[in-house]
Amino acid sequence: MVRKAIIPAAGYGTRSLPITRVIPKEMFPIHHKPSIQYVVEEAVSAGIEQILMIVSRSKNMIIDYFDESLELEMYLQKANKLHLLSKVKRPDVQILYTRQPFAGGLGQAIRLGQHFIGNDPFAVLLPDDLVIGEGIKELIDVYQEEHGSVIGLKEVEEEQLKNYGVIDGDPIRNDLFSIKGVVEKPQENPPSRHAIIGRYVFTPEIMAALEKVQPDRGGEIQLTAGIQELLAAQPCYGKVISGQRFDVASEKDYIDLQLQMYRQHADHQGK
Ligand code: UTP
Repeated sequence: MVRKAIIPAAGYGTRSLPITRVIPKEMFPIHHKPSIQYVVEEAVSAGIEQILMIVSRSKNMIIDYFDESLELEMYLQKANKLHLLSKVKRPDVQILYTRQPFAGGLGQAIRLGQHFIGNDPFAVLLPDDLVIGEGIKELIDVYQEEHGSVIGLKEVEEEQLKNYGVIDGDPIRNDLFSIKGVVEKPQENPPSRHAIIGRYVFTPEIMAALEKVQPDRGGEIQLTAGIQELLAAQPCYGKVISGQRFDVASEKDYIDLQLQMYRQHADHQGK
């Protein structure tokens, strides 16, 4: 069973500057909730019981956000605003934190979770990638069938592939692949249309694979390089998720997401 998850949130958010100087992009609001809370809720509803968040010096806002709000809860009770209490309750999951001293890449961030995961399989959810509909649960289901690492995929337009890690794989069924290789941001001849998105389930062997990875030219330990190393040791699978995926750092996705959440809420209220 997959019960643990790592949520890396220690990046600089350069694409969203200048606001990310003070507000982490993982805290960008979407219908009154920060992006990272949707991701925590997705993990919890997939059966995750413990989360390790990777933060940095400038991300204390995330730690504060997931703390209890005792004073506010007392105020709401006294002021007879009990209907608002559910809005300030923290998600029902244990959250631990560790700091990444500088943003040395996603692979380096995940390695900080080595003791946390021990010998257990674990999920990774990127908090700036939002999924409406099925996300990490579908990957956990594949892990339970195949007992290998599972990478979340989306089919994207050919011209967009250069912005993603892209897999080369053999189809097992139309939404499931046996991965042969991964290429980080292919500038030409992408091996498929299947891009890696921010949802993964890993066997604990990914840690040893990441240890072998050398920093890239920008000094970062890339997770895709770790996946490539892992493939030399054991099979990995790619699952096209059925949910809709939004990149919070993309202005268009962010606006689309806001509209979609607004409409969902309005429908719910019968407006
Ligand atoms: P991104 O590459 O999308 O985020 O990493 P970034 O580096 O913060 O943003 P840009 O590209 O400069 O705009 C995906 C997730 O991984 C985390 C980020 O916080 C983000 O949630 N991350 C990235 C880390 O925790 N550590 C890192 O070294 C890099």
